[in-house]
Amino acid sequence: MIILKLGGSIITRKDKTKPTLNPVNLERIAQEISVAKIKKMVIIHGAGSFGHPHAQKYQIGSPIKNEKELARKKRGFALTQNSVKNLNHFLCHYLLKWGIPAIAIPPSSFITSKNKRIKRANLEIVEKYLEMGLVPVLHGDVVLDEDDDLKMAVISGDQLVTYLAEKLHPDRIILGSDVDGIYNRDPNRHQEAELLPVVKSMEDLEFLEGARTVDVTGGMAGKLGELLELASKGTPSEIINAGRKGILLSALKGEKVKGTLITK
Ligand SMILES: Nc1ncnc2c1ncn2[C@@H]1O[C@H](COP(=O)(O)OP(=O)(O)OP(=O)(O)O)[C@@H](O)[C@H]1O
Ligand SMILES: [Mg+2]
Repeated sequence: MIILKLGGSIITRKDKTKPTLNPVNLERIAQEISVAKIKKMVIIHGAGSFGHPHAQKYQIGSPIKNEKELARKKRGFALTQNSVKNLNHFLCHYLLKWGIPAIAIPPSSFITSKNKRIKRANLEIVEKYLEMGLVPVLHGDVVLDEDDDLKMAVISGDQLVTYLAEKLHPDRIILGSDVDGIYNRDPNRHQEAELLPVVKSMEDLEFLEGARTVDVTGGMAGKLGELLELASKGTPSEIINAGRKGILLSALKGEKVKGTLITK
């Protein structure tokens, strides 16, 4: 079984402040997944411009001071959920078009968190779909939080990757983003940045920066934090560039591709 994360930076135009799809990437990625013919796969996608700007505007996940703020955040929560659900609909549409039996499973409908970490999630339904050869498609989402000061939280696609990996024990975990992997510093800001084929700790990087675009879950630094935690428990993962033609297909087929392995 493979857990594949498709970054919001790939399936959306993350440089836009309004929800904007990247239909060219969506079409190509759905095609590459279809050609790879993976028997069992869970797909998780990020929120990109469909989620981060809303979540930032309404500060989902920050402490709630009064009733007025709660009312505003509730609206923001619903707006964010509706928007990422919309993105999920488009991804599933492209997957289905290429013959992949995609089943949308919105985390806000079955996951809750405590202090912004996933606390409760019944994965039985995900496992059932997998057994049947259907492809569950989850996404970075807003969820209810048990912490009374927060009441709601943003759960990144990257946190979902680590949570599902711990519970479902996949053979491989592949994360497709808009960069070739992890560099010693942000390649979009520093021309001389060098790609790191293997990362074992935060110290392997010179500078840790988030993303240039709006990313409420910490961009690459947030992603690496999640994946290092997973690696420390013995589960490695790979970051590849899903923005370049053919890399995702090769990676899915098990061929060696340019990228970063996050391991112990
Ligand atoms: N050291 C680094 N190596 C690689 N990328 C980095 C680094 N530091 C910062 N980045 C930035 O991280 C970005 C990718 O992270 P980001 O969270 O935006 O992607 P994503 O996970 O695909 O999107 P989403 O969170 O919406 O799913 C890159 O575009 C890059 O600019
Ligand atoms: Mg991100």
